[in-house]
Amino acid sequence: MVPRRCFHLILLVLSCLCFSCRSEMESDFDKWISWNVKNYQRKTIMEKRYRNVSGNVQGLDPKLKKAESNKVRLKVSQDGSAQFKSITEALNSIQPYNIRRVIISIAPGYYREKIVVPKTLPFITFLGDVRDPPTITGNDTQSVTGSDGAQLRTFNSATVAVNASYFMAININFENTASFPIGSKVEQAVAVRITGNKTAFYNCTFSGVQDTLYDHKGLHYFNNCTIKGSVDFICGHGKSLYEGCTIRSIANNMTSITAQSGSNPSYDSGFSFKNSMVIGDGPTYLGRPWGNYSQVVFSYTYMDNSVLPKGWEDWNDTKRYMNAYYGEYKCSGPGSNTAGRVPWARMLNDKEAQVFIGTQYIDGNTWLISP
Ligand SMILES: *[C@@H]1O[C@H](CO)[C@@H](O)[C@H](O)[C@H]1NC(C)=O
Ligand SMILES: *[C@@H]1O[C@H](CO)[C@@H](O)[C@H](O)[C@H]1NC(C)=O
Ligand SMILES: *[C@@H]1O[C@H](CO)[C@@H](O)[C@H](O)[C@H]1NC(C)=O
Ligand SMILES: *[C@@H]1O[C@H](CO)[C@@H](O)[C@H](O)[C@H]1NC(C)=O
Ligand SMILES: *[C@@H]1O[C@H](CO)[C@@H](O)[C@H](O)[C@H]1NC(C)=O
Ligand SMILES: *[C@@H]1O[C@H](CO)[C@@H](O)[C@H](O)[C@H]1NC(C)=O
Ligand SMILES: *[C@@H]1O[C@H](CO)[C@@H](O)[C@H](O)[C@H]1NC(C)=O
Ligand SMILES: *[C@@H]1O[C@H](CO)[C@@H](O)[C@H](O)[C@H]1NC(C)=O
Ligand SMILES: *[C@@H]1O[C@H](CO)[C@@H](O)[C@H](O)[C@H]1NC(C)=O
Repeated sequence: MVPRRCFHLILLVLSCLCFSCRSEMESDFDKWISWNVKNYQRKTIMEKRYRNVSGNVQGLDPKLKKAESNKVRLKVSQDGSAQFKSITEALNSIQPYNIRRVIISIAPGYYREKIVVPKTLPFITFLGDVRDPPTITGNDTQSVTGSDGAQLRTFNSATVAVNASYFMAININFENTASFPIGSKVEQAVAVRITGNKTAFYNCTFSGVQDTLYDHKGLHYFNNCTIKGSVDFICGHGKSLYEGCTIRSIANNMTSITAQSGSNPSYDSGFSFKNSMVIGDGPTYLGRPWGNYSQVVFSYTYMDNSVLPKGWEDWNDTKRYMNAYYGEYKCSGPGSNTAGRVPWARMLNDKEAQVFIGTQYIDGNTWLISP
């Protein structure tokens, strides 16, 4: 495992590299660097604060530390050259209530599998080939009849559902192709549902149309991921940080990117998008409140002109926005112009933005490990 500090630095350098290839953002580049350096310093200061009276860092969950120090690897390849031919077979081979991290290397290919990582299998990692990521695909929708004779509904339409905690995926494409070509049938069709806590995704792509990424509940982290969809395609009441991600709206007419469903003031949930990009094929809103206490913040994010001037929608129910918390902070690009924003959108100040713009938002210091 790479030491934490080092890992932060690597992430920082990598994200700088990635940033520099996007010419339209170059003007913000210097500002961003200086911000990131400051943010790194702030993180270091905060890490010091995590030290307890004995001077020890209050580090990772002990269970996670143990799992990480005993990790095992399994291999999946469709051509029969590895232990398993399918991801499902590999998962089925793991003893329930495992206490070791299990890294499942998945060879390039197109895997038509419907997967549920059960709650009894924590510490699972799906690892794809960075040069040729595997695709896990499906096409269930909410109205499809399940094996029990009942409709799947949105919840069970997912191609991949993660019930387990401490799940990780790296270099994997997740799909739900039900509504392709776009508009052939618009219905809830989830690519990935994440119900497990403390779950992280790096270099992953989530493709679908409606409700692509059901960020159901728990603390989640997304780094350098692409999420594609048309209607409410990042939804749920998870508490998640999306860092360095590309959010691509493929709808050709009005739609909403997020439908955050925080519905209880005492339940901590929200989506924070940081250093990301919002691009679209047609006009879109940043979000609309699925729950009465919906919380979404975009910071340091580039928005192209697909983002409608109003920015946010209230689902034509004027009461919906009363307790919504929709914030923007230091965003750039034509869609970030706040002149036409709905009056209930919040332009955050430094202090207000602080809680959303680091991994502390998701208690990252206790569970984010080197991928
Ligand atoms: C992010 O992913 C893209 C491919 O989707 C890759 O080209 C790029 O190097 C990645 N960036 C980082 C910082 O990992
Ligand atoms: C301080 O943290 C360390 C490591 O987590 C732990 O072993 C130790 O018991 C803690 N000490 C106190 C006084 O809480
Ligand atoms: C996954 O979690 C959901 C919701 O808690 C539950 O309905 C379902 O049975 C679980 N599936 C498995 C395979 O654990
Ligand atoms: C999903 O794909 C299968 C096989 O390709 C096809 O038979 C089925 O009709 C599709 N279902 C939906 C809902 O598109
Ligand atoms: C993400 O992709 C980039 C290049 O495409 C690679 O350099 C980086 O290591 C990948 N990240 C992880 C966590 O594997
Ligand atoms: C996730 O874990 C955190 C820290 O252990 C806990 O406070 C929170 O309630 C958990 N969330 C869910 C949805 O289980
Ligand atoms: C988008 O939808 C609205 C109402 O549904 C309609 O009036 C408008 O013409 C559509 N715009 C485009 C570009 O299709
Ligand atoms: C939102 O609050 C209203 C009452 O103010 C209630 O009728 C409605 O069911 C709530 N919606 C959700 C999704 O909790
Ligand atoms: C809200 O009303 C407008 C205008 O009547 C309509 O175009 C839009 O589709 C409605 N939005 C929703 C979410 O119902």
